[in-house]
Amino acid sequence: MPTELPSIILDCDPGHDDAIAILVAARHTRVLGITTVAGNAPLSATTRNAIIVRDLVGLAAPVHSGAERPLIQTPKHADYVHGKSGMDGADLPEPSGPPASTDAVGFIIETCRANEGTWLVPTGPMTNIALALRAAPDLKDRIAGISLMGGGLFGNRTAAAEFNLWCDPEAAHIVFSYGGPLIMAGLDVTHQFQALPHRIEMVRALPGVLARVLADLLDFFSGTYTSRHHGIGGAAVHDPLAVMALTHPELFTVKNAHVDIAMGDPRTMGMTIIDQRDLREVPPGNCEWLTHVQADAAWDVVVEAIAHFSH
Ligand code: BDR
Ligand code: CA
Repeated sequence: MPTELPSIILDCDPGHDDAIAILVAARHTRVLGITTVAGNAPLSATTRNAIIVRDLVGLAAPVHSGAERPLIQTPKHADYVHGKSGMDGADLPEPSGPPASTDAVGFIIETCRANEGTWLVPTGPMTNIALALRAAPDLKDRIAGISLMGGGLFGNRTAAAEFNLWCDPEAAHIVFSYGGPLIMAGLDVTHQFQALPHRIEMVRALPGVLARVLADLLDFFSGTYTSRHHGIGGAAVHDPLAVMALTHPELFTVKNAHVDIAMGDPRTMGMTIIDQRDLREVPPGNCEWLTHVQADAAWDVVVEAIAHFSH
């Protein structure tokens, strides 16, 4: 495990698995702020959920809301996975207040300029991050990198595309071509990390409100996965892996790869084109592609974080 905590901005659309990402980030990183984007649910809902989870884990970091819609595409949500609220399934407390601002993009730019070496961790559609990179090209050389959840060898929203990248493929294209360090937690690794029944029981066995809320959220999340998929043991808990790639790199197998984003054709838009050809003409890698996670050990990280914050 790295000795110094990485400084991060978590850009998310909670989202059951985004909630787990906030939890792990609170335990193992210096969270400079949480920014929200429309994705799993409309922006008002994802922002509300982010504030609730931030409060539950007792984090002081500000929450700034951002883009209400993708750069070009029409907004689309994932209530078939996360419910209408974006985080259905638990009796949630009210948020402690409104977001610190509605200018997530300005917050990202200012914070990255003031804190060189910050990691951006997007776990929703990449609209805010793309807008920040476009408005402030100097960020490329100021940030440590971008560790994102999205893409992979197969799709979930379409045959080709993963949800976050399918929602805003143009933003994803800007992110994947920004030219600095990039880590991709795609579906091929996140589907190795499932909220199996015995793993949810480990959470439910812990004392406190946070543990109860997260166990209820994971039950709902796994319910939608097991009802929609053939033969899956529980929900794929995607988003915390983008955080753990920074905090627990020893849990992952990684391949350097060149990854491009398909745009335009609705059949493939948002697809990550991972160049696996064994040819000299293949362009240099732009991405550290996570290919394997030690799932039991990664789940222990989640459980320890809940035990730490839940009383
Ligand atoms: C991604 O989409 C959302 O439903 C999850 O929160 C995750 O970020 C997985 O495709
Ligand atoms: Ca998400």
